[in-house]
Amino acid sequence: MTSAAPTSTATAKPDDDAKIAVSLRGLWKTYPGSSKPAVQDLSLDIRDGEILTLLGPSGCGKTTTLRMVAGLEHPDAGDIYFGAQAVVMTAKRLFMSPDKRNVGMVFQSYAIWPHMTVAENVAFPLQARHFPKNEIKDRVAKALDLVGLAGFEDRQGPLLSGGQQQRVAFARALVTEPRVLLLDEPFSNLDAKLREQMRVGVKLLQKRLNIAMLFVTHDQIEALSLSNRIVLMNFGVVQQQGDPRLLYEAPSNEFVRDFVGRTLLFKGKVQSSNGAGQLAIALEGAPDCVVFGRTYHPDGIASGAAVYMGVRPEDVEILPANGGAPPAGTIGGTVQAALFVGERIEYQIEIDGQGAMLLYGERHRPIEEANKVWLKLRPDGHSAWSSNWSHKDE
Ligand SMILES: Nc1ncnc2c1ncn2[C@@H]1O[C@H](COP(=O)(O)OP(=O)(O)OP(=O)(O)O)[C@@H](O)[C@H]1O
Ligand SMILES: [Mg+2]
Repeated sequence: MTSAAPTSTATAKPDDDAKIAVSLRGLWKTYPGSSKPAVQDLSLDIRDGEILTLLGPSGCGKTTTLRMVAGLEHPDAGDIYFGAQAVVMTAKRLFMSPDKRNVGMVFQSYAIWPHMTVAENVAFPLQARHFPKNEIKDRVAKALDLVGLAGFEDRQGPLLSGGQQQRVAFARALVTEPRVLLLDEPFSNLDAKLREQMRVGVKLLQKRLNIAMLFVTHDQIEALSLSNRIVLMNFGVVQQQGDPRLLYEAPSNEFVRDFVGRTLLFKGKVQSSNGAGQLAIALEGAPDCVVFGRTYHPDGIASGAAVYMGVRPEDVEILPANGGAPPAGTIGGTVQAALFVGERIEYQIEIDGQGAMLLYGERHRPIEEANKVWLKLRPDGHSAWSSNWSHKDE
C-alpha cells in the first residue's frame, strides 16, 4: 500500500505575486499498490511567460506532476496554487475539480476527434462551458490563427498531417485562455524535422501569448532549447532546477552531469584548491596539463586527491601532433577510429594515461586513423568529481 508518510518541507503559501502563475508546494504522490512515491516533496513555481520543463528519465514522475496540476490526480500531501488562489490544500482537504482550473493540455497523442472538423474540435471546450456562439467563433478564429491554421476551419481531422493535428490540439488547449498550458511530450510522435519546426513554433507562441507553460519531456535537446528553466527529476525527486545553461555547465550531482549532455571523465589529481570550490587539476598521463574545475562536494576535495574531471566534448580541441611531448595545456593520444557523421567527425581516441574516449572534431580538418594527436582542453569551466581510482604514484 502507500508508503512513506508524506511530510512537506515547503508548505508556505506563495507570495502574492501576480507573476507566479502556478506554485507547487511539497507535493507527494504514491499510487495505490506501489511501495515507492512517484513524486516526492516537489516544490516549484511557474511564472507567466515562462516555459518550465520537467525533464527526466521514464517513470521519474513527470506526467504524475502534470496530472496533479490539471486535477486528474490527488496528491497525498502538499498544496497547489494558481496565482494566489489555492486549488489544492491537502491538509484542509481542498481539491478544486479539473473543469474549474482552466488549464490547457496537449499530449503526445494528438487526441483530436476524427468525426469533427478543425473548427469543431477547437470550439469543443468553449461549447462545454456554454460560451455564446459569437464569442466561440471569434476565439476559434484567433486560436487557429495563432497556430498558423487559419483557413483550415472546415477540414476533417483525419485529413490533416501529424504536425497539423498537433497544432489543432494546441489551438484547442489555448482557446479557453488558460492560466497555464500543460504539455506532455507533445512532439514525440512527430518526425525529427517537424519536431524542430514545432519547437520554434512553441517558442514564438509563448512570446506572443506571455502564457505560463509546464512542459514535460525526456528529450534533453527539447528541454535545453525551449525552457526558461528546467527541473530535472529522477525517481520522483528533483535533482536540480535552474536555467538550461546552469544544468549544462554547473551540474550539481553526477546524475545531472550524465543526463544533460555528454561528459568525458578525465582522471586527474588535485594540485590546489582555492577554498571556494575551484580546483586546479593535473591530468593523469600529461606532462604539463593543468585545468580548472568546480567541485560541488559540500566538503570540497583535498589537495593531492585523485579525481575525475568532467569535460564537455566540445571543450576539447583535437590538434595533429607533430612529434615530441605534448605542449603545455594538452594531452597526447592516438586516433583509433574516425567516424564521419555529417556535421562533424567522431574520433575514438586512446588518450595517454586515460583510456579510450569518443571526441568530436571538425569535418573540414579530418585526421586519419592511427595518427597521433594532441588534445587541447579549455583551461577552465570544467567540473570535478571525487573518485576512488588509484593514482599511479600512490
Ligand atoms: N495510474 C498509475 N498507477 C500506478 N502507478 C503509476 C500510475 N501512473 C504512473 N505510475 C507509476 O508512477 C511512476 C511515475 O510515472 P509517470 O507516468 O509520472 O512517469 P513519467 O516521468 O511521465 O514517465 P514517461 O517518461 O515514461 O512518460 C512510475 O513508476 C509509474 O510506473
Ligand atoms: Mg509521462
